[in-house]
Amino acid sequence: MMRRPHRHVGRTSSEGVRGRLPGGLARAAVTPITRGPSSRGPDVGLPTVTAVDPAAGPSGSGSAPAGDGRGVPPSLTGRTPVVPPARLLAELVPPRHFAGESFDTYVPDAAHPSQRATVERLRAAAREITAGGGPGRGLFRRAARRAPVAVYLDGGFGVGKTHLLASLAHAVGADDAAFGTFVEYTNLVGALGFLPTVEALAGKRLVCIDEFELDDPGDTVLMSRLLRELADRGVALAATSNTLPGSLGEGRFAADDFLREIQALAARFEVLRVDGEDYRHRAVVTDADGLADDAVRRAVAGVPGATLDAFGDLLDHLARVHPSRYGALLDGVELVGLTGVVPVPTQDVALRLVVLVDRLYDRDVPVLLGGAGEHDLFSADMLRGGYRKKYYRALSRLGALAADGAARVAADPA
Ligand SMILES: Nc1ncnc2c1ncn2[C@@H]1O[C@H](COP(=O)(O)OP(=O)(O)OP(=O)(O)O)[C@@H](O)[C@H]1O
Ligand SMILES: [Mg+2]
Repeated sequence: MMRRPHRHVGRTSSEGVRGRLPGGLARAAVTPITRGPSSRGPDVGLPTVTAVDPAAGPSGSGSAPAGDGRGVPPSLTGRTPVVPPARLLAELVPPRHFAGESFDTYVPDAAHPSQRATVERLRAAAREITAGGGPGRGLFRRAARRAPVAVYLDGGFGVGKTHLLASLAHAVGADDAAFGTFVEYTNLVGALGFLPTVEALAGKRLVCIDEFELDDPGDTVLMSRLLRELADRGVALAATSNTLPGSLGEGRFAADDFLREIQALAARFEVLRVDGEDYRHRAVVTDADGLADDAVRRAVAGVPGATLDAFGDLLDHLARVHPSRYGALLDGVELVGLTGVVPVPTQDVALRLVVLVDRLYDRDVPVLLGGAGEHDLFSADMLRGGYRKKYYRALSRLGALAADGAARVAADPA
């Protein structure tokens, strides 16, 4: 599995942030996902996405986007994926980056005993979850396990929370565990409706929610309700939420926030503290210079699965594609080239870009940033505002993916 540098942003303040998502990014999750022409996705074995590149003709899920046959690379802007709800469900698995991770590949730091303790607890939780009644045997299961496992992994940036959560999901098994980010679950509710989502997830033994978002009260209430319904049906729950690096008492405060936001459920959750450093100990890079636009064009030319877009056009396109489909937008994409990168103009545009960066990061897709690169990508106001956690995380992730991209250019300067 490809390994990428894992970088995190530097010290920032972390007083509590609360706010509503402007422009209805998460709210847009209620937009029904339209069905459209579909092709068979090799990865999930379901009718999935049709990504149409007008310049290139139809291109199915999982296949590399095709260029125009005259050497012009395909663009993300030319793709309009349609994602059936079944695919949203089928994609509730740990991201590609963690596909090969397990409790065995997690190396606890002896300097932080809570790491070993957490792995041991999670191994036991996996045994507990897999023992006894199978999914879908509601009454029996409820009787057998009055209080299903509910754990919250609490810790700073890069201490391995997602690694551990993915390991738990793997230990429980792909059929019995759902794994998604908070945003993916809110998208699912938007696509399926609340009760069908409960029904679909209640068939699992374990539901993992990575990066529980504590900055949107509406979505928090929705998720809280969803978790309660699932816990009542005997489904085990495991969650993490994001905290700012270097913030005072980072993890403890995150746990407090989390428990407060899910008040009705708080007593059921067992908080597992994961102390430690950012595992990768990477330098903080959030404002690397951009590449020359011509270098970006040269680097993508002829590379299978590479795309090329003008940054402004891509931002416009993101407004026309539902955020739940940004993952599908990247089907088969191995490298993303962007020319003319400039500061994003407004918060709604910025929040859409954040979602795209998360999907790129989940998929380990390197990027080539032309123009100004990450310089001033998000304005000082944005970085001070209610969504700054999201922006800093996006900068951190984009910085890591851009470093991967730049390394490719350096390795192949032709
Ligand atoms: N103890 C560990 N042993 C092996 N790999 C680790 C360990 N801790 C972290 N990693 C690896 O380091 C990287 C960062 O870990 P991960 O993404 O799980 O951290 P995180 O706590 O979820 O961070 P974030 O706050 O950014 O979500 C991953 O590639 C993960 O596999
Ligand atoms: Mg994580």
